[in-house]
Amino acid sequence: MNVMILGAAGDIGRHLLEQYLAHPEVQCIYATHHREVSSICPSVHWLTVDMADPSAIAELAAAIDQPIHRWICCTGLLAGSHGQPEKTFRRLASQKLQHDYAVNAVGPVTLFAQMANHLRSDELRAVFLSAQVGSIEDNRLGGWYGYRMSKAALNMGVRCLAIECSRWRSQPTIVAVHPGTTASNLSKPFTKTRTAPVQSPKQCATRLYQLIETLEPQQNGQFLKLSGEILPW
Ligand SMILES: NC(=O)c1ccc[n+]([C@@H]2O[C@H](COP(=O)([O-])OP(=O)(O)OC[C@H]3O[C@@H](n4cnc5c(N)ncnc54)[C@H](OP(=O)(O)O)[C@@H]3O)[C@@H](O)[C@H]2O)c1
Repeated sequence: MNVMILGAAGDIGRHLLEQYLAHPEVQCIYATHHREVSSICPSVHWLTVDMADPSAIAELAAAIDQPIHRWICCTGLLAGSHGQPEKTFRRLASQKLQHDYAVNAVGPVTLFAQMANHLRSDELRAVFLSAQVGSIEDNRLGGWYGYRMSKAALNMGVRCLAIECSRWRSQPTIVAVHPGTTASNLSKPFTKTRTAPVQSPKQCATRLYQLIETLEPQQNGQFLKLSGEILPW
């Protein structure tokens, strides 16, 4: 089995990589990083990509030369050089929204599309880490425009991919997954005042791995929690 983990230097991605390194049937792992590599492991094929850069995405897709059986996108952006999550429409800025959209929605979906020839393997399971706040129906608080809008766009892309790829000869399982609130670089600034418990990235990755390895084709096109519960789009 060959695995590809995008964002494998991130907090959830790094721990998921460890789970797959311990999987007895894994032969080859492609792992991507953006700004830094967290570990150098000889059995991991590290590649670099900026999800906001179409030419970097094309280069990454061209570098893959093995069929992939697990494709897991753990990249994502909530705050960064383009600004903080917007609490009100008064803070909306076109450049930030476009960057959020590029990193969180366009990058993952176009990379999948460009790698499709390597993804027509038996029993492909493709997981895109999304976020519950990207659920339109579940939005009761507003705010975080860029993150919510880009994750909602990702969700629609995942749903379209799942429908189109279900026509492949070997049935894939393609899902969007909310990993749950997890202590990570992305969430740290926003969980300080939270009273409810926050799972560790290791706990999250263990549950994510279990979810992925028990996914069934009939779950294709769903938006899931780590428990397997279906979330509204
Ligand atoms: N943590 C939570 O509570 C939570 C909740 C809901 C959903 N999620 C989702 O879970 C996923 C993983 O997040 P995490 O919590 O593990 O956060 P994280 O540690 O910040 O990991 C996110 C990864 O995305 C990478 N990334 C950011 N911008 C990128 C770009 N332009 N190109 C390529 N890679 C880029 C980051 O790399 P650099 O740091 O090098 O830029 C980092 O490795 C994300 O999709 C996030 O939206 C997390």
